[in-house]
Amino acid sequence: MSAEKEGGTLCFFINGKKVTVSHADPETTLLSFLREELRLTGTKYGCGGGGCGACTVMVSHYRPATKTITHYSANACLLPLCQLHGAAVTTVEGVGSTRTRIHPVQERIAKAHGSQCGFCSPGMVMSVYTLLRNRPQPAMDDITHALQGNLCRCTGYRPIIDGCRTFCQEADCCQANGAGDCCLNGEETLEETQHEKPELFDKREFLPLDPTQELIFPPELILRAETAPPQTLTFRGERMMWVSPTSLEELVQLKARNPEAPLVIGNTNIGPDIKFKGILHPLIISPTRVLDLFEVTQTPHGVWVGAGCSLTEVCSLLEKLLPQFPEEKTEVFRALSQQLGKVGSLQIRNVASLGGNIMIAYPNSDLNPVLAAGNCKVSVISNGGRREVPLNQDFFVSFGKTILKPEEIVVSVFIPFSRKGELVRAYRQAPRKESSFCTVTSGMRVFFSQGSSVVQDLSIYYGGMGPTTVSATQTCTAIVTRPWDDETLQRAYDVLLDELVLPPSAPGGKVEFRRSLTLSFLFKFNLEVLQKLREMNVITEELLETMQIQPLPREIQPGLQVFQHVPKDQRDQDPVGRPIMHRSAISQATGEAVYCDDIPRTDGELFLALVTSSRAHAKITGLDVSQALRLPGVVDVITAKDVPGQKVRKMFGYEEVLLAEAEVSCVGQMICAVVADTRAHAKRGAAAVKIGYEDLPEPLFTVEEASEKSSFFEPRRMIEKGNVAEAFKTVDHVHQGEFRMGGQEHFYMETQSMLVVPVGEETEFNAYVSTQWPTGTQDAIAEALGIPSNRVTCHVKRIGGAFGGKVVKTATLACITAVAAWKTNCAVRCVLERGEDMLISGARHPVLGKYKVGFMNDGRIMAADMQYYTNAGNTVDESPLVVDKILLHIDNAYNIPNLRGRGAACRTNLPSNTAFRGFGVPQSIMVLENMLNDVAMVLGRPADQIREINMYQGPSVTHYGLEFSPENLWRCWDQCKEKSDYAARRRAADRFNQDNCWKKRGLAIVPIKYGIAFAESFLNQAAALVHVYKDGSVLVSHGGTEMGQGLHTKMQQVASRELGIPPSKIYISETSTNTVPNTCPSAASYGTDANGMAVRNACQTLYQRLEPIRQKNPKGSWESWVKAAFLDKISLSATGFYRGPDLYMDWDKMAGRPYAYFTFGACFCEVELDCLTGDYRAVRTDIVMDIGRSVNPSMDIGQIEGAFLQGLGLYTLEELKFSPSGLLYTRGPSQYKIPAVCDVPLRFNVYLLPDSHNPHAIYSSKGIGEPSLFLGSSVFFAIKDAVAAARSESGLVGPFPLDSPATPERACLACASPFTQKIPASTPGSFKPWALNI
Ligand SMILES: Cc1cc2nc3c(=O)[nH]c(=O)nc-3n(C[C@H](O)[C@H](O)[C@H](O)COP(=O)(O)OP(=O)(O)OC[C@H]3O[C@@H](n4cnc5c(N)ncnc54)[C@H](O)[C@@H]3O)c2cc1C
Ligand code: FES
Ligand code: FES
Repeated sequence: MSAEKEGGTLCFFINGKKVTVSHADPETTLLSFLREELRLTGTKYGCGGGGCGACTVMVSHYRPATKTITHYSANACLLPLCQLHGAAVTTVEGVGSTRTRIHPVQERIAKAHGSQCGFCSPGMVMSVYTLLRNRPQPAMDDITHALQGNLCRCTGYRPIIDGCRTFCQEADCCQANGAGDCCLNGEETLEETQHEKPELFDKREFLPLDPTQELIFPPELILRAETAPPQTLTFRGERMMWVSPTSLEELVQLKARNPEAPLVIGNTNIGPDIKFKGILHPLIISPTRVLDLFEVTQTPHGVWVGAGCSLTEVCSLLEKLLPQFPEEKTEVFRALSQQLGKVGSLQIRNVASLGGNIMIAYPNSDLNPVLAAGNCKVSVISNGGRREVPLNQDFFVSFGKTILKPEEIVVSVFIPFSRKGELVRAYRQAPRKESSFCTVTSGMRVFFSQGSSVVQDLSIYYGGMGPTTVSATQTCTAIVTRPWDDETLQRAYDVLLDELVLPPSAPGGKVEFRRSLTLSFLFKFNLEVLQKLREMNVITEELLETMQIQPLPREIQPGLQVFQHVPKDQRDQDPVGRPIMHRSAISQATGEAVYCDDIPRTDGELFLALVTSSRAHAKITGLDVSQALRLPGVVDVITAKDVPGQKVRKMFGYEEVLLAEAEVSCVGQMICAVVADTRAHAKRGAAAVKIGYEDLPEPLFTVEEASEKSSFFEPRRMIEKGNVAEAFKTVDHVHQGEFRMGGQEHFYMETQSMLVVPVGEETEFNAYVSTQWPTGTQDAIAEALGIPSNRVTCHVKRIGGAFGGKVVKTATLACITAVAAWKTNCAVRCVLERGEDMLISGARHPVLGKYKVGFMNDGRIMAADMQYYTNAGNTVDESPLVVDKILLHIDNAYNIPNLRGRGAACRTNLPSNTAFRGFGVPQSIMVLENMLNDVAMVLGRPADQIREINMYQGPSVTHYGLEFSPENLWRCWDQCKEKSDYAARRRAADRFNQDNCWKKRGLAIVPIKYGIAFAESFLNQAAALVHVYKDGSVLVSHGGTEMGQGLHTKMQQVASRELGIPPSKIYISETSTNTVPNTCPSAASYGTDANGMAVRNACQTLYQRLEPIRQKNPKGSWESWVKAAFLDKISLSATGFYRGPDLYMDWDKMAGRPYAYFTFGACFCEVELDCLTGDYRAVRTDIVMDIGRSVNPSMDIGQIEGAFLQGLGLYTLEELKFSPSGLLYTRGPSQYKIPAVCDVPLRFNVYLLPDSHNPHAIYSSKGIGEPSLFLGSSVFFAIKDAVAAARSESGLVGPFPLDSPATPERACLACASPFTQKIPASTPGSFKPWALNI
């Protein structure tokens, strides 16, 4: 790098306030600047790589050339601070706050119940806010488009969409039947069903949207842009330098002197490279102020588009041009604009540049195959001059490389007009429909001369089929000069198959699927070419309607949420049973809600970064921290030797070391931790620690490997009812099967976070931890430090999502952080990066289920023998309890007279798996339901009939001897069938399937019976502390944590009813171990049941204490009674306690009462499946749930919808992939796909079962946090039903394997289309697969 001159002050605006930075560090992102420098913590950090949207802000620019102001949403985690010169940034704080006024977007998302844990809410708000700045009356499509890149793990998106829907013009129309044809087709309409029915929110109380109230663009920036001559800006940081030239000439010279320096425009490639791969660029050139890179010029042959233009700008340009020219001229424009709309998310497209997308030469680039097929070219410049280079097969040389010289700069890209007789199309298939890199992508162009079907010219390019964009040249040669007919095409498929070969261990895996997609895309192109030839009157045969492929439907329609009115005689002020908004929803939507990492830094605070094992099973032979200690800012390195107390945590008789000392047993195991003055320094320190390993033989990864070596965590369990062996002898059929289910990453939006602060005397510590179990964390810290628990206070204000993943590992992490705080005597903060979190913290247990089932010709199942192997990972964690719960749910809703279950937790060399919403039940029931499906397929009968035949009837007893009534199970089932119009939909789907060759519809309905409470009796207890202050305000503390489920809101409702005061007088500040000790984890769907009773107990005590006062002054106010009580020396503080049911399970006797009661439900789902790509869409879901009398219907419906979508993710989308050496590949939202807005069922109805009562829980309610997760499996079984329809056309009937998740890959391959059948399967064992099948 040659020396560039320094100088320049960065000047921009944030929320209307001017910000000047004279020594901006090029490594600083806007997000860290906002959060750490300005303490604007509303903008959240969820992934750091542009994949989650939690950090969304609005960026505004003034364009002097057009005198216009543009607003766009962007990911602050990718925006380099230095890039912002002259820009105005709006963050959630600038949109509205409770201290000034809240914005309608914030209000509507909150009041529509679209904020649960709230961690995603500021990002959601900013995406929609930016949309409204550009389009105050958006269409529904605009809203779903704007939210493409915003992930939410809690809500299921429906309430967010419904809140935002109120901004749409068409919001007043019911839209119930899609495409605007409201209230037609005789379907139940919103008006009919919701007439006189309670609603979750009242949109009449919403603030109107008033665009005149928005912040104006700073006039100073306009003036400056108009008048101040642009100057080169240079910034130098600790390791990097940033130069922003102002002219093309200057840029060319700069690049000539520094050919290796990247040009950063959107930073969507360079940013993640720096962050995740540790690549250091000493110099960065920012050409965003070089206008030549943004020019658009039209010529008679096409259009030159500046390479610096963002993908959004290119898309808008093409869409503007499309209507200006005859269709035949705009084939490339159209294909490109369609493809552009599918690249990443809106936030990414708003900043990512066209030139950047081309130049990173990414093998999965969506644009390069289309640009290449469309005969596009680039104009490049260097100090050697200008030249034009075609974007063809020679351009893309290898992974990330093009033929351009390092000093060459792409100035613009030429997109040509198409000719008459030319057809250009683009195709892509991705793991998730939106905001996802593709698996395979393609651009295809064909040219026919007038009146002929003979191919004159053809180009076909693919992405995702090798290290770079590839041309199917031989395939094109096989087609060119031949007529476009079946014979030519059949030959072309064979050539293509030979031409684009992937080795079986190709990076990225999915080899057969990728190869079949190349054929499917060509076939899809074929269908469009035939249509074109018919339009050109070259061929006359009509394409059979059954062969045509329309895109999958995508309009999200309003759903129904049906719940019951509170009783007529209930007091108006009594909030119980009403859909009260989450008590923090507004603060969450304004960004004021404080999460662990939002707590301001204390003086001298240090940051902790972990060093983890890179080996799956090895001896540690050396630990060299010397280099780390020499780095700037590094204060200390914490190793196992520094732990003053217990170095291990004990569970079920097994020990887990806090920090590995002698040996590691998985990749990602924690070895030591670096503490430094800043996050960046701690991370650099961690990267500099050197560890020596000596590999130990035979690491075990799969359950098969573990079983073979008898590597289990004991106890293994068995349960049996009846006599299974005997029963098999008397049945008509015996069938055996196997079902494999992948794990699931919690993907709470807030990663593991903690801050431990030494009080400074008597070894006292305050720990602020994002944990579901404050007491567990307190105990663990005390043990690790060797101090009594009374010196450690654990505080939890709120948690940004947990789902079971913030119990065991969180406590271990908190111990390490506490040791660092103890050793350094400083406050220490540890917030895991998304990748670290995914690597270290474990997931839901993957399961292999084996079953043998005996059944009669009439469908009655007489015997079942089930075996479950869970992959527990390297430490015991809660795995034995997961196995217990699996075996307790192997009956689900069915009375199988002879039933045996066996379960084992396999000890492997993968990161330890842990609790996850449902705690084994979603795996347990899935295997069982798959078995039932097999039975239905063997008998050739609908699966719902087999389910009905076997469901519990009348007074029933489970396989462990618990008596219950299945009446409400049947009511849910029957109502679900009725509400979903199951029979009619089945008939319609059958017709659809007859009429469509390549698309199939599938239906499924599944029941759930879910046991509530802890089988470990001691956990069924809770305590509360309620203070009434002299002014009448009430402070409630209880043992449960608020993680989005609305527990604090419900507790407020309980206290409100019991004390007879409005919820506004009641506050819940936090959960802390010094107010309520010895708490149980907030888990097992038992939080409301247990804590609600404790709060009620405390409130009733207080109420009774006030009784004499009330009697003396019955007309007095609450405040007057409280005051009088104080003067009368009556205690205004009370504890409450709940001793829950004495539940137990005796595994020796195989009997017990492990649950207090059951929550029941049923779910219908219909999907439409594209059999050529495996792409699917849930078109309708109806859930009927028995949750007794809901304490808060909005919270409970939120739990049902959120869990359903998480289940949809588990069973159809989310895949954890491990390398053959045990390294988790999927360590962020780019590789691991959780459901996004594009996955919400198009019509999503939830009904709470009326007239249900539950004597076992507070106010007759039922626990609901976990049960409906399993209902997501209805999507899986609907996909399987659609696949079965496709297979039957190829004559394939009977049971077939389809493992979970039913990803597009699995669904497509299972369809056994003529294309997938062409792909030769690789022989297992003959190669090392890219990923393990754990
Ligand atoms: C979350 C996420 C999702 C994504 N999804 C998709 C997707 O679905 N499909 C897809 O195709 N892509 C996707 N991308 C990739 C994205 O489109 C590219 O990263 C982007 O287009 C690169 O442009 P940029 O301006 O951000 O590049 P930068 O990161 O700013 O620069 C990238 C590189 O390009 C070079 N470069 C940039 N401009 C020029 C120029 N004019 N002349 C010479 N060299 C230049 C730079 O030197 C640098 O080395 C995704 C990226 C992210 C982060
Ligand atoms: S934190 Fe920026 S997108 Fe996830
Ligand atoms: S509310 Fe969206 S992530 Fe929790």
